[in-house]
Amino acid sequence: MFALVLVGGFGTRLRPLTEHTPKQMLPICGVPMIEWVVSHLADHGIQEIGLALGYRPDAFIAAYPDGRIAGLPYKVAVEPEARGTAGAIRFAAQEMQLEETFLVLNGDVLTDLDVGALVDFHGQRNAEATIALQAVADPSRFGVVTTDNDGQVREFIEKPPMDASPSNNINAGTYVVNPSVIDRIPDARPVSIEREIFPEMALAETLYAMKSDTYWLDTGTPEQFLEANLDALRGRRKNKPTLPVAAVDATAQVEDSVIGTGTHIGAEATVKRSVLFAGCQVSKGVTIIDSVLSDDVHVGEGARIERSVIGLGERISAGTQLVEQTRPEP
Ligand code: GTP
Repeated sequence: MFALVLVGGFGTRLRPLTEHTPKQMLPICGVPMIEWVVSHLADHGIQEIGLALGYRPDAFIAAYPDGRIAGLPYKVAVEPEARGTAGAIRFAAQEMQLEETFLVLNGDVLTDLDVGALVDFHGQRNAEATIALQAVADPSRFGVVTTDNDGQVREFIEKPPMDASPSNNINAGTYVVNPSVIDRIPDARPVSIEREIFPEMALAETLYAMKSDTYWLDTGTPEQFLEANLDALRGRRKNKPTLPVAAVDATAQVEDSVIGTGTHIGAEATVKRSVLFAGCQVSKGVTIIDSVLSDDVHVGEGARIERSVIGLGERISAGTQLVEQTRPEP
């Protein structure tokens, strides 16, 4: 089965990390997120993928010039302007001439979902589209779904108010869709699958959903992006990463952190629960906790960075104290 991966969003919540790099090209334990997503698909027998591109399409094409990602051949569709999640599916399906049932994935979700089981569930129910569901503690940031016993979706409510959610099961961002779904998507304007198409299909009683309780994480915010890295580091994913090679001074203390290739951690520095991309220079006595540093960041002696996100090439002067900040400021 063909899988279309949506990777065209601006990733505004992850700025400044996404200022120059699309979200799905950011590293999870040194490996671009898109490779984690595609490896998982390859493990489940998918043989070809498509990328629905919008923001910074060049970054993907330059990174995979031989036409393969994680071993799978890929096609691209580049939207002339942001079309939203459904508009992107319609545009790509037409560009790629998709005429059979296919998979759609939000490219910023990391999961160990049994994709084959979702496809089987879809076929057994003769559904028009089938959504993977995930149970979460706080569903208010997601699309909440209720179903009958057979999995037919009764209600699809995007981002219900806190405490007003009818269920804890949320749209996990992986779908099986029949080509007829494309005809439901209006042309040439931005359309959201979550806000327009799924609620309409729920009313038409053609939308189904399958519960899953496997590893699942939406990487859309800095906290979640950090968590995705630490989960991979702690071995919570089926696929285990090969960690980048970094230079850490013998007197530095590095705990529960991902240190990128060529990054140097100086004497008596402390780094905890943080992700440092490649080529960073961390000077003597620096403390970095619960933070993400993009490529080539330099941190001067004795600086402290806590719960903060630092963009590409930033220079943090000696002695600076940053708590819950982003640099550069948005
Ligand atoms: P934020 O700006 O932080 O909300 O992030 P985002 O732009 O990635 O939006 P969101 O997290 O809601 O997107 C979910 C998935 O759909 C991500 O994989 C996005 O890359 C993708 N996506 C969102 N909008 C578009 C679009 O207009 N076109 C394409 N091709 N993909 C999109």
